[in-house]
Amino acid sequence: MNANDPPDNDAQPPQKPPRRVRYSGTHPKNYKQKYKEHNMEAYPELKAHLSAKGKTPASTHIPVMTKEVLDCLKPMPSDVVIDCTLGYGGHASEFIERIGSAGKLIALDVDASELQRTKERLNNPANVSFHRSNFAGIANALSKENLDGFDIIFADLGISSMQIDDPDRGMSYKNNGPLDMRMDDRIKQTAADLLNTLSEKKLAMTLWELSDETDYEHIARQIVTQRTDKPITQTDHLVQIVFDAKGINQKAWRQRRRTEKKRSLHPAALTFQAMRMLVNDEIGCLKELLRVAPYCLKPGGRIGIISFHSGEDRIVKHSFRDGVRNGIYKTTAKEVIVPDNKEINANPRSASAKFRWAVK
Ligand SMILES: C[S@@+](CC[C@H](N)C(=O)[O-])C[C@H]1O[C@@H](n2cnc3c(N)ncnc32)[C@H](O)[C@@H]1O
Repeated sequence: MNANDPPDNDAQPPQKPPRRVRYSGTHPKNYKQKYKEHNMEAYPELKAHLSAKGKTPASTHIPVMTKEVLDCLKPMPSDVVIDCTLGYGGHASEFIERIGSAGKLIALDVDASELQRTKERLNNPANVSFHRSNFAGIANALSKENLDGFDIIFADLGISSMQIDDPDRGMSYKNNGPLDMRMDDRIKQTAADLLNTLSEKKLAMTLWELSDETDYEHIARQIVTQRTDKPITQTDHLVQIVFDAKGINQKAWRQRRRTEKKRSLHPAALTFQAMRMLVNDEIGCLKELLRVAPYCLKPGGRIGIISFHSGEDRIVKHSFRDGVRNGIYKTTAKEVIVPDNKEINANPRSASAKFRWAVK
């Protein structure tokens, strides 16, 4: 603009950067206060610092066993790949790089907000289609894209670090928040709805079948008893119920834990896992994916699944082994593939991951 030009009335004043959330002490502790971690591009040195401590920066996700996935599924230029669980896009970026511009990646996720964020982070590449869709419906994705089959079907089951760390999603026992637990906000019933209405028998069965929680009967009874006094709506309340059911004092448990060499599982971890799997029908969706997957693969196509729970891994193993026995698959992984110690140290969240693959 020339100095003599009239002022431009449409010009906006320069935007001030938003003020960071105030926190007491020297370090932000809760999820929302970690403003640097929510903007990792601006603080690249923080990534290395957190990774040396085995921590995942807030609102990011570290992909698991990437090398093993690529070695076994062998994405090649011009392949058509479906990533059934886009998440932060860690595995997807590796696929995109290898299939090149002649290839095509179909990226699914049920979580609308994370899907949109990842689409923007990946710069919405021309050879990627993003679908807010459950992987139980991969056959629909195939027909919507007018494709005759996939070269690779990949799924990295469960939830992302972004989902588990955000207290507003209510998926973790670590920070208090509403007991929502839905990955897909189109699902009608939240964890709170189920905790306040299911019968004691159904709650006990859920805890036993979805997480092998040995105190399933005590916890189910405690849920039903406590909800008559006050509806269960917050994660802290569910944590207290589990401690009450197990007869453990929270303060004493925290003190004992500080001295443990190897960290034991949080007493409420299995209850949270089971409720999350129930809310999102994770086993039902996995079974449907495994049922339709062979019909959506091209001959010679590869399927790979990472699971984080022994029950899910068993379902994947049997599906692939039965598939080979019935002539649906040519071959499958002989042994389950797990992360090495180096990966577990760098990313402790990978510790329970199990990877299996099969070829049609
Ligand atoms: C473990 S994360 C995937 C992380 C991803 N591989 C990465 O590298 O960032 C799992 C993702 O799958 C999504 N998800 C879980 N179950 C799903 C389903 N049945 N259909 C579609 N997406 C699902 C979750 O919303 C979450 O974003």
